[in-house]
Amino acid sequence: MSDAADNSQRFIGSAQRPLPTLDFEPVAMDFDTPPSDPVCEFHRWLAEANQLAVFNPNAMSLATVDADGTPSVRTVLLKAFDERGAVFFTNRMSRKGRALDSHPQAALSFHWDNLARQIHIVGRVSRTGDALSDAYFQTRPRASRIGAWASLQSQPVADRAALDRHVAETEARFAGSDVPRPPHWGGYRVALDSIEFWQGDLFRLHDRVVYKRSECGWNITRLFP
Ligand SMILES: Cc1cc2nc3c(=O)[nH]c(=O)nc-3n(C[C@H](O)[C@H](O)[C@H](O)COP(=O)(O)O)c2cc1C
Repeated sequence: MSDAADNSQRFIGSAQRPLPTLDFEPVAMDFDTPPSDPVCEFHRWLAEANQLAVFNPNAMSLATVDADGTPSVRTVLLKAFDERGAVFFTNRMSRKGRALDSHPQAALSFHWDNLARQIHIVGRVSRTGDALSDAYFQTRPRASRIGAWASLQSQPVADRAALDRHVAETEARFAGSDVPRPPHWGGYRVALDSIEFWQGDLFRLHDRVVYKRSECGWNITRLFP
């Protein structure tokens, strides 16, 4: 059936569900008089997300664009956040790493469904220094550090056995010694060129405010939902 003639589509998620109950009272943001410091507000929202019964409250979608303009998106974990930007760690030879080599800009999206909140960040991307990448790498369990060497992230792999073989070879290579950070593994920092706070409300009449970095502070704009 052509799309133009199709009015029989079944829609996903239309059924009314009860709102999730929280065992704490989130502090509402005043969108008419937004706080002057979005970094502080981000930490406040993340702290409240940390109180949710979710496994990775620091998970965020990371969107990049590769050399020929193809977009891609995946989930990564936020590992540091301050006025310099949002930091995550990955394999720099991965699809995202290669995309960032050609287009060092990214968009991030956090979504905390039970709080009806999202935060969007857009900014220039830079590699974190070796000291920070080393420091974070050392906090990871040994098996994860082995995995960072063993996985040619985003490359084709024949089967699970091939991955397991890479892991076994890496374990043998580092037997009895520390597992250093691979040279192709490290952090990226997404600068806070813009950061938007979104609070869901009934009937899609949500609240949004976007902070854009200017030479002297932040330009703050409220947006229609
Ligand atoms: C909850 C969650 C957290 C993840 N965190 C990371 C991360 O911090 N770094 C990373 O490289 N991949 C992480 N991944 C895997 C990525 O989503 C992705 O599959 C991988 O990085 C390869 O992406 P690419 O091929 O686009 O480069 C995570 C996946 C999930 C579901």
